[in-house]
Amino acid sequence: MPRVVNISDLRRVAEANLPRAVFDYIDGGAEAEVTLRENCRAFEEVTFRPRNAVAVETTDLRTTVFGAELSMPLLLAPVGFTRLICPRGEVRAAEAAAKAQIAYVLTTISGSAIEDVAQASKGCRWYQLYLVGGREAAEAALGRASAAGFSVLAITIDTGTFGLRERDIRNGAGALIGDNLLRKLRFLPQVLAHPLWLAGFLRDGRMLVLPNVIVPGRGPLPLAETQASLAKSVVTWEDFRWIRKVWPGPIVVKGVLTGEDARRSLDEGAAGVVVSNHGGRQLDGVAATLRALPEVVKAVGGQAEVFLDGGIRRGSDIVKAICLGARAVLIGRAYVYGLGAAGEAGVARAIQILRADLQRTLALLGSKSISELNRSYIDVPAIWASEPRPKT
Ligand SMILES: Cc1cc2nc3c(=O)[nH]c(=O)nc-3n(C[C@H](O)[C@H](O)[C@H](O)COP(=O)(O)O)c2cc1C
Repeated sequence: MPRVVNISDLRRVAEANLPRAVFDYIDGGAEAEVTLRENCRAFEEVTFRPRNAVAVETTDLRTTVFGAELSMPLLLAPVGFTRLICPRGEVRAAEAAAKAQIAYVLTTISGSAIEDVAQASKGCRWYQLYLVGGREAAEAALGRASAAGFSVLAITIDTGTFGLRERDIRNGAGALIGDNLLRKLRFLPQVLAHPLWLAGFLRDGRMLVLPNVIVPGRGPLPLAETQASLAKSVVTWEDFRWIRKVWPGPIVVKGVLTGEDARRSLDEGAAGVVVSNHGGRQLDGVAATLRALPEVVKAVGGQAEVFLDGGIRRGSDIVKAICLGARAVLIGRAYVYGLGAAGEAGVARAIQILRADLQRTLALLGSKSISELNRSYIDVPAIWASEPRPKT
């Protein structure tokens, strides 16, 4: 892919390759998409303070996350219905992550079974939990994930109800994943205009069930029931007690945007938090994650790992997040655009772009190692300094 120089190039190729409704499902955010845009814009507001006249021949990007060594501080975020984008999408992405020695996070609402992902990828793997299908289905999935070598559990806490994704509603995207063929007819023109995608989708043929949500006495949950089930089964702090009993490894809370939720996560036994607003897909109007990061880092006070996702499109964005205290970052759209552009090779390309960006940014900053980065390498706008808030 010689013409693909950055993640926006991958996005353009994905847009050309995918039916409109599938592309919008990936690309879109909630309501007016203010938070979606802000996530990216916040990175532009932070500027670098390089140490020049320093020779940097090699750069060390390695880091460890809960004892696992990663070649760079990057994880592929959980993305629901990845199989809609590319045949066996979760397996392909996990393979690309393992080859690049970074971590992969498998969503509950995956079209690929936990065991299939584990078999294809021996790399560092986390499992992300939604309570879709209820508590018994979740317990069964956690047992399978742990047995299959998923080492960390990420619990997503920002889906109390569905964000209003206006593009999906206009496109009627719900019907895409349902099993009502008549309702799918509306997609015929856009699908026929993308015969390669259609051939892959039909060949894959496993889109209509969620193999990791086995409802006791019923088998895998049909995709069409996901929305209703998700809306009824929000994860609450009360759930953490039983989850801790059934999950033996570290727990990371995904969807933390305030110091209060960060401290509550620690109280509930979390070993890490992900500063995340679900890529601007849930509550529109919440702050960009980069802006929320310093408050969370301060509240955590070094007692847990802090991760960040949302808006990362360049390696320099990763450097800025690390300078503000993140241990590592997760990317969602950046790799999913790659998946839509060229399957596993596209994911590999996204990772390669970010790795080269990281190496170059470190060298230009005059730093040899990711572990040297700190707040002194960046300036943040004065307006970011937060006013003291009343205690809640
Ligand atoms: C198409 C799509 C599906 C997603 N599905 C999930 C999911 O199943 N579980 C979850 O915790 N987060 C999900 N997310 C949110 C991502 O894990 C991540 O927080 C977000 O994509 C980060 O923002 P970015 O896309 O700007 O990198 C999804 C995001 C996208 C774009």
